[in-house]
Amino acid sequence: MFEIRYMRPDDVEAVQRIDTETFKHLREKLTGRPYNQIPREMEYFRYWLNTDPRGALVAERNGEVIGFAFNHPRGNVGWFGPLAVTPTEQSAGVGKALLRSGIEYLRNSGCGLIGLETFPTNPVSVSMYIKHGFRIVGATVLLEVPLPELRLPEGDDSEAEVGNVGEGELAAIAEMEREVSGFDRRRDFEFVISWDKGFGLAAFEGDKVVGYVFGCLKRERGMLGCLHVDEGRMRSVVPPLLRRAAEQFRGLIADQSPERNRMGILFDGRQTELLNYFFSLGFRTQTTMIKLVQGDEGLMRTHSPLSLEKG
Ligand SMILES: CC(C)(COP(=O)(O)OP(=O)(O)OC[C@H]1O[C@@H](n2cnc3c(N)ncnc32)[C@H](O)[C@@H]1OP(=O)(O)O)[C@@H](O)C(=O)NCCC(=O)NCCS
Repeated sequence: MFEIRYMRPDDVEAVQRIDTETFKHLREKLTGRPYNQIPREMEYFRYWLNTDPRGALVAERNGEVIGFAFNHPRGNVGWFGPLAVTPTEQSAGVGKALLRSGIEYLRNSGCGLIGLETFPTNPVSVSMYIKHGFRIVGATVLLEVPLPELRLPEGDDSEAEVGNVGEGELAAIAEMEREVSGFDRRRDFEFVISWDKGFGLAAFEGDKVVGYVFGCLKRERGMLGCLHVDEGRMRSVVPPLLRRAAEQFRGLIADQSPERNRMGILFDGRQTELLNYFFSLGFRTQTTMIKLVQGDEGLMRTHSPLSLEKG
């Protein structure tokens, strides 16, 4: 038998190990090729645990952690994941038990809508989520560019001014983000800008914020998320934001091997104008995930990836 319990700070090393092993195993199973899974930084696990201690769950058997799930209420919407069960313990009901506890926690936290992302080629997770009332509503696309291959236009006077997001702009940006995505991400933004491996950038026209993006290391590579650009501002806002983000990542990425010296960004599959623009700057599709939700779909804006750490 196994039990589901709240995660404790001394569990996070086991959780990080299971996360790395399980997603390496999954990738290799789905592709039939060896895969070098770089661990997610420990800061992610500590941050999720500290932010939502009742949403951080482990499954334990005979005193040993065999699986985990994180749950993130963000106002009246929430997102679920990551979820992993150690490969030798799979298909014995553990994943389902973690998922059910997670849904209960998010519902009790006032989330009318719960979303998640998963690989479309993973029959186990896709069937599990559908059996638990989730519906496929779209795709999330991860684009990546090796930093030396980023092709940005020359800067000129039409470009917006870019500065680092500080405490002063945070409330206004979190409010813009809530309008755009439906998620109250203030605590996530606070974490990213306070982390020495993260940053937030805002684009200004005068005093007005016309775009923003947040970035941090993920698995030792650069990852951007929550890009927002005001209508009609793509060409004056994206290049200066990316130029500054690339500079920051050049300073943060310790090992500049081709495998790690990269910058990624997540989009909802319907953001075709932005996707095509990013392709023209040298980005290529790295992975596609499907987005599933359950609950009141009216609460979610369509054009947003669900998770900050993924996107
Ligand atoms: C996905 C995962 C968490 C599921 O956990 P699990 O403990 O293996 O799954 P469970 O035994 O609880 O089964 C849950 C459902 O998954 C499906 N499933 C489980 N094993 C399966 C198998 N071998 N083949 C097909 N479907 C399977 C079934 O729908 C099952 O529901 P049922 O028992 O009512 O039929 C686990 O397999 C895992 O960690 N996989 C790798 C990482 C991953 O994919 N994480 C989720 C990404 S969002």
